[in-house]
Amino acid sequence: MQLLLFGRLVTPLLNGDALDVAPGWLAADGSGHILGAGGGSPPRALRGFDVLDLRRFVAVPGFVDVHLHYPQIDVRGQGPTELLAWLTSTIFPAEEACADPRLARNRAARTFRALARNGVTTAAVFGSPHPAATDAAFAEARRSGLRIFLGMTMMDRNGPEALLQSRERNLDAARQLCRRWDKDARGRLRYIFSPRFAPACTFELLRDTARAARELDAPIQTHLAESPREVAWVRELFPGASSYTDVYRTAGLLTPATVLAHAVHLSDDEWALLRVSGAAVAHCPTANFALRSGVFDLSRAVREDLRFGLGSDVGAGPSFSPFDVMRHALYLAAIPPSDTLARATLGGAQALGVADRVGSLEVEKDADLVVLDPAAADANLDAPLESLLSALIRRSGSAAVAGVMARGDWVHTTPDLEH
Ligand code: GUN
Ligand code: ZN
Repeated sequence: MQLLLFGRLVTPLLNGDALDVAPGWLAADGSGHILGAGGGSPPRALRGFDVLDLRRFVAVPGFVDVHLHYPQIDVRGQGPTELLAWLTSTIFPAEEACADPRLARNRAARTFRALARNGVTTAAVFGSPHPAATDAAFAEARRSGLRIFLGMTMMDRNGPEALLQSRERNLDAARQLCRRWDKDARGRLRYIFSPRFAPACTFELLRDTARAARELDAPIQTHLAESPREVAWVRELFPGASSYTDVYRTAGLLTPATVLAHAVHLSDDEWALLRVSGAAVAHCPTANFALRSGVFDLSRAVREDLRFGLGSDVGAGPSFSPFDVMRHALYLAAIPPSDTLARATLGGAQALGVADRVGSLEVEKDADLVVLDPAAADANLDAPLESLLSALIRRSGSAAVAGVMARGDWVHTTPDLEH
């Protein structure tokens, strides 16, 4: 469908600026790509397009959730408030249940629906350590219409037997899933190599995973320095390494195509390693809060020009809503609401290396957008930008989401949109 939409458009831009036009227009072609967007009158060439009058609403780019775990959907907000105890008591049993691919597929389907409902159109997702479950989850990712990075969680030590596989099996399964699914759905699906974290992986598994990802030109995700007990454990397990981050560096996992979740407890040397490697970070403020893990140094990340996006980290984070994540990010650091929105959209796209495709409402990108109703936040449509975004982020949360479009197709609509 060739689409011409009118409404207040708010979007970060690749050049570092932001666009805020009311009314603005956005046109999308039949394959769901943005033909143009701006203020004033649309070009004459767009006459004849199907018009969508959203002038009561604000359209922002689809949100990018750079870190979550679909197998954990039903244990969100449950269990102890310390990472290692929570993994053992709550998370590992939940993931063991994904030995049944049908159960896993159901969790994946509900996860992708929840993401869509909350305005998330791109996400990086950990699966369980089961190849069949990950395969089934990919089938649901394809059905969802969302842009999904998904990988089988890899572990070969320090977990329940049911979640461990030998290094060879881990690598064979991951390679096979990558060959089968990477770049499926016209490039909207990516296989992402997903070693759980250093304590659950032998050095050889970490090293060979980095190699496999390089050979297949695929991205990597893992966890880094989330909690103090975890960091102490890594020191014991890798006595020869100078730091947690150094373990990943030595294994070859620190690349510009790597996303590291949390990165809360880092030394100056580790910050330097991150900077030099070009790896990106997933800042997960709701999860860090829920597990009392510590506070990510967001001001330093901005100062050092680190690439980072925002992650819900479901199930450590209890909510799929990017508004909940943005609200926590806002409360933790003195950044303006417009910068918070930029982190939740373009920043996430940059962290995942897909800023040429999504993250902002700009020409040639996918028409991924969220239609927000300011009335749900008791805000005026014509309020100044920071005030409008502050109300949406701090007051209404996802209740303001009136519709969500992914590559030109609605993946979520509400009756609000019709009135
Ligand atoms: N570290 C290793 N595994 C996990 C996980 O599943 N969730 C979180 N939050 N941290 C982890
Ligand atoms: Zn996580």
